[in-house]
Amino acid sequence: MISNQSGREQWGSKVGFILAAAGSAVGLGNIWAFPYVVGSNGGAAFIFIYLLCVGIIGLPVLLAEVLLGRTTQRNPVGTFKTLSNSKFWHAVGAMGIAAGFIILSFYAVVAGWSLGYIFEAVRGVFFDFSAPTDAEAHFNSLVGNPVWIIGMLVLFMFVTMVIVLSGVRKGIEKGSKILMPLLFILLLGVMFRGITMEGSSAGLYFLFNPDWSKISAGTVLVALGQAFFTLSLGMGAMMTYGSYMSKKDNVVSSSVQIVGLDTSIALIAGVAIFSAVFAIGLDPAEGPGLIFHTLPNVFTQMAGGYVFSILFFVLLFVAALTSAMSLLEVVTAYFVDEKKWNRKKAALVLGSFALLLGLPSALSYNLMSDFTIFGLNFFDLTFYITFNIMLPLGGFLISLFLAWVWGVDKAVVELKKGAESLFEKAGWQISIWKVCVKYIAPIMIFLVLLSSIGII
Ligand code: PFF
Repeated sequence: MISNQSGREQWGSKVGFILAAAGSAVGLGNIWAFPYVVGSNGGAAFIFIYLLCVGIIGLPVLLAEVLLGRTTQRNPVGTFKTLSNSKFWHAVGAMGIAAGFIILSFYAVVAGWSLGYIFEAVRGVFFDFSAPTDAEAHFNSLVGNPVWIIGMLVLFMFVTMVIVLSGVRKGIEKGSKILMPLLFILLLGVMFRGITMEGSSAGLYFLFNPDWSKISAGTVLVALGQAFFTLSLGMGAMMTYGSYMSKKDNVVSSSVQIVGLDTSIALIAGVAIFSAVFAIGLDPAEGPGLIFHTLPNVFTQMAGGYVFSILFFVLLFVAALTSAMSLLEVVTAYFVDEKKWNRKKAALVLGSFALLLGLPSALSYNLMSDFTIFGLNFFDLTFYITFNIMLPLGGFLISLFLAWVWGVDKAVVELKKGAESLFEKAGWQISIWKVCVKYIAPIMIFLVLLSSIGII
């Protein structure tokens, strides 16, 4: 086992870290959410704002998180404890861990649908549909059935726990090294099928032709939330993965590659889905139902639909799995580092608790659909609290901590380790990063947070 002086595990290789971190980043956020968020927010103009958020906020915060983790070689709470004595900052680490745990609970519900849809695709169910509304009715009948939705949740969580309990190198890294290339090949296959459909260019036009009238302050909020969610930021997932890096590895180039992979996979997923949806003449602004209501109709009508429907849902499942692994790893690492639990026990116990918390989210689609808090069902409530509040707040505090509490100059000294040659060529890029973590990221995130709670 490769480990640091204290015997803590480390990634076996640089590419192992990049694939695992890209696996965390690329998930339901890219393939399920990104296309529908783009579809309901006006297409290309939204993409433009989103790319800006990724570049000037996402990448700097990602660098900050990975660097903090690598510096301390500990979980998020341990990281803040190592660098500060203040209870406040320890609580920020704890908030991140709590956010990861809550996200895992509802994330696994949707991931369970993707698993269940592999079975539906193999059974050829989509070919029994005679009208587009049948696909939606079928989805509603599946999620309306507590046995199906909970069964898939349990199955998905079980697979996630087995990988995480197998270890950082033998579980997460090995799994990512197999699953990420598979994901990429499947995605390229699905995209190729989409763009070769007759009429697919209308989808590309929608994706790449901006309509600026659709942009409002609300759009920026959604774009920033999406950037944080898709890059797994604001809750210490990237900090935890960074904590298994060696000081010889280059944090800057790895982070740039992770952002590059995540962004290109979201765009490719958008191209794949919109070219097919437009080719069949369906509505791009379907919202969260885009994948589960609309796409099955696409598969029904396209040549080779049977094979591509299976490939697509395997792809979605793989993407969700590598992300869920990272969510479970955050809380597992905390219990392993701080509470000295063994990894197997931590992954099994914490995964089971996340599963229990996932039950009310799963039941929000059936038995508990009438149960609402602030007008939201349990699933939507946990989604809202984490996506709109906890992640941006976490990102805001992490950048403040790095820049103003730990100190940006100390951070730069650490950043240089493993990146000496890059520093010679890229001095000015590092200065831009300093400005971004010190001022631009915290100020922008703060404004967006104020607007999300209705203050501005
Ligand atoms: N980045 C994942 C996605 O886009 O689906 C979601 C996610 C994973 C968010 C891990 C946060 C996290 F820590």
